[in-house]
This record gives sequence, structure tokens and C-alpha cells, in this order.
Amino acid sequence: MNNDAQIAQMEHVARWFQQPDRTERLEVLRDVSLQVAAGESLAVVGPSGSGKSTLLNLLAGLDRPSSGRVTVDGREVSGLDDDARSRLRCERIGIVFQLHHLLPQCSVMENVLIPTLAPGAPEAASAPRRASDLLERVGLADRLDHRPGQLSGGERQRVAVVRALINRPALLLADEPTGSLDRAASESLADLLAELNREQGVAMVTVTHSMRLAERMGRVLQLDDGTLRTDGERA
Ligand SMILES: Nc1ncnc2c1ncn2[C@@H]1O[C@H](COP(=O)(O)OP(=O)(O)OP(=O)(O)O)[C@@H](O)[C@H]1O
Ligand SMILES: [Mg+2]
Repeated sequence: MNNDAQIAQMEHVARWFQQPDRTERLEVLRDVSLQVAAGESLAVVGPSGSGKSTLLNLLAGLDRPSSGRVTVDGREVSGLDDDARSRLRCERIGIVFQLHHLLPQCSVMENVLIPTLAPGAPEAASAPRRASDLLERVGLADRLDHRPGQLSGGERQRVAVVRALINRPALLLADEPTGSLDRAASESLADLLAELNREQGVAMVTVTHSMRLAERMGRVLQLDDGTLRTDGERA
């Protein structure tokens, strides 16, 4: 595959954690290799504790591999200093965390606009308009002034997805984006993700327990015993 056409790549990545009171280390990822082509969508599935969030944190540059290489947009993430990694995240990556991480004192609209305040953030001027469009599309048009504490879990999750999309990332990393949504809300969020992938070419890596969401992605990979294997290729 042509490297230019890749937005992210993991090469023989291992991640282990030293355990305070034990001699042996906890090996979470043993040998993970993954290539994410620009504009493609893929799902990572696997049991709880199999290392899915650990894998996303590595792709996001929020964590460093114990061995191996992680490259995003042609740059090796662990070779970058903190500033350069933050800039890469801000300009190219949108992240939906498993636990949302919304700021409790800010409104829905303010939370969504926070990434646009970072230096170098693209299209800050058009961001409020885009924010209200996206919030409307996920059914939150009448929640713009609510604070996260006044929202349901599923509503908070949708705000987190919109916040991750606001800077038009080239790569969206989403950790269980439909985890607390009911069937109808999951379907409409899956529709939004599929549409953004198709229309704007946002590449996405989505961790999910939902096979319905996984099947909406172009590829499904299974994380099992510290390695990734293909679950099924779709045309
Ligand atoms: N900083 C850390 N220090 C020690 N162990 C960790 C650390 N982060 C994760 N782990 C361990 O690594 C394993 C994988 O964690 P991870 O959060 O990646 O799982 P997951 O696949 O996302 O699970 P879930 O589906 O429940 O979210 C777990 O056993 C966890 O306890
Ligand atoms: Mg997780």
C-alpha cells in the first residue's frame, strides 16, 4: 500500500504495564500491526479488558508503545514532543473517549467549541454554525445551553461525538460511541458516522461492542490475546 494514502499505522506494537507488586508485567498488546487508509472506516471489537482503549490511546498519541511504532499522518507519534503531539491531535484527530470527558461547567455548545479554540485549529469562524448543524443532526438542537450534568448519558455521548468532529479531523477515534444509546439513537449516530465517512472522507477507527455498528464500518478487526486479526473483509 502506498504510504501517502495512509492516515495511521501501527507496526509491531506492544504495550505492557509493570504491576506494582508483581515481577511479571501485564502484556496487553503483544504484536499489533494495523494500517488505516485515508478515508476508510474500521471497527475494533474484542472482550472487555482486551486492550481496545489502550490501542486507541496509542493511535491518539496519548500513550506511548512499549515497543514498535505508531505513525499518524506520516509522523511517528512517539518521536514528537508534547507540543507537536497536541498539535497533531488538534489538527488531524478527533477523539471520542469512553467516558466522554465533557467539561461540567460549560454548556453543550461551549463543550463542542473547545477544540476550535486551540491555536492552529482550522475554520474557527465557521465552527458555531457547524456545531449547531451537527448537534441538530444528533437530535440535540434544543440542548445547546444545557450543562453535561443536565443531560442523559446518551445525550452526553452524542455531544462528545460532535466535539470530536468539530475540527473536521482526518481521523476519528471513537471508543464505544454508542455505548449508552438506545437502538434508535445508535442507528442515527451510526448514520451520521457513515455519512461523514462517505461525504467528507473522515477515516474512522471505532471500538464497539455493537455488531450493528461494527457492520457499518468497512472492516471489522478482532482484538484477541494482544493481537489484531481480521474478522471479515467487506467490499
Ligand atoms: N495504565 C495502566 N496501568 C496498568 N494496567 C492498565 C493500564 N491501562 C490499562 N490497563 C489494563 O490493560 C487491560 C486493557 O485495558 P483497556 O482499557 O484497553 O481494555 P478495553 O478492551 O478497552 O476494555 P473495555 O471493553 O472494558 O473498555 C486491562 O486489563 C487494564 O486493567
Ligand atoms: Mg475500553
